[in-house]
Amino acid sequence: MDVIGSIHEMQSLSDSLRQKGKRIAFVPTMGFLHDGHLSLMREAKKHADILVTSIFVNPAQFGPNEDLDAYPRAMESDLAKSREVGVDVVFTPTNDQIYPEGYETYVQLETLPNHLCGLSRPVFFKGITTVVTKLFNIIKPHVAVFGEKDFQQLAIIRRMVKDLNMDIEIIGGALVREADGLAMSSRNAYLSEEERTEGLRLSQSLAKARAMVAGGETDTSAIRAMAEAHLTGCPAISVDYISLCDPETLDETATITGPTLMALAVMLGKTRLIDNTVLVPQ
Ligand code: PAJ
Repeated sequence: MDVIGSIHEMQSLSDSLRQKGKRIAFVPTMGFLHDGHLSLMREAKKHADILVTSIFVNPAQFGPNEDLDAYPRAMESDLAKSREVGVDVVFTPTNDQIYPEGYETYVQLETLPNHLCGLSRPVFFKGITTVVTKLFNIIKPHVAVFGEKDFQQLAIIRRMVKDLNMDIEIIGGALVREADGLAMSSRNAYLSEEERTEGLRLSQSLAKARAMVAGGETDTSAIRAMAEAHLTGCPAISVDYISLCDPETLDETATITGPTLMALAVMLGKTRLIDNTVLVPQ
């Protein structure tokens, strides 16, 4: 496995791989890898000859009062996990290379970021679409895999790739959970033992919603009320959003008539947690 820190070196390697007719798959990450990340890598390997991943904690997607400095980092064990899963190249640039002095170009969507996480995190998706565009230009992949854990991110990347005619196939990877249902996240490392238990309220709310829909419920306000009550049953939880929306446009839905995204975001103490499921009516 190669570990490449230089943009120029990465671009040259990708050029030569492409010249040799190799198909390149890419999985971008911010590191502190868990089984959710590794499942995307295993999926990506099925679609290409060479698997490139990146580990870069992207400052542009963190707001001024967010956890950029505290974000967990573990480069050595990340590299060991990457090697084990069969990654061919890990790209690990520095902040100065990605955002050198004088940097001023950003990629931004018009409306999709004005939903869900984008409402409370105003720079988040602008930072993501910018860094992902840059990483695409550096790694030059044929295919890239993003997790459904970050459903809005996946929808935004799909839209951006389509709108900007990026010649890259985007694949969604299923959300991976701990055995008890908690969605895997690098941020779970912040949780105390007690918070770790209370965090189950997100996946429990989604399971209750699925049961309601299986029982014939189609009114999203009833489902939202159930989730609100279940989440706020824990005083340490403050709800950012409980959304029932169209999985493509992310516009809120009053009645479940087709596949409907149910997405949750809460602060549990100081930790932001998100989770989602797609509700399918009977
Ligand atoms: P990060 O949070 O490290 O996630 C990297 C990829 O792993 C994303 O596509 C995310 O959706 C996926 N992922 C995270 N947890 C998952 C889980 N439990 N199951 C399945 N997939 C999961 O998302 C980012 O980094 C950044 O925004 C990035 C795209 C790298 C741009 O900086």
